[in-house]
Amino acid sequence: MPDSSEGLLHEAPETLSTMARDMHRALISLQEELEAVDWYQQRAESCVDEDLRAVFEHNRREEIEHAAMLLEWLRRHDPIFAAHLRDDLFSHAPITDVEAAATEDPQTQPEEPRADSAGFTIGSLKEHP
Ligand SMILES: [Fe+2]
Repeated sequence: MPDSSEGLLHEAPETLSTMARDMHRALISLQEELEAVDWYQQRAESCVDEDLRAVFEHNRREEIEHAAMLLEWLRRHDPIFAAHLRDDLFSHAPITDVEAAATEDPQTQPEEPRADSAGFTIGSLKEHP
């Protein structure tokens, strides 16, 4: 049975690795969870009934948890996601200064290029736009 996200592929499924298809599923799912956060946020702010607002706020929190779980899966399976999440999250520096600080501090340099499970080599983030 085809996955519902397959209709959103930009390439023929048979040309994609299993990991690329799973990555697509995770990315599409993350997009859906973030859209749900936005929907529940708007519905909670717009609705009149207090009990319904509480349900929407509860659902919004759960969608954020789902999004975070997907980000964690992406972090575990994509070294570029891992490097950016490591460098950019939980910093107290101005957001736009984090990248500059990471490139100046040798402690926060991305790991050396390595091959992923499919044998692709992932290069330095400095080469990534
Ligand atoms: Fe969800």
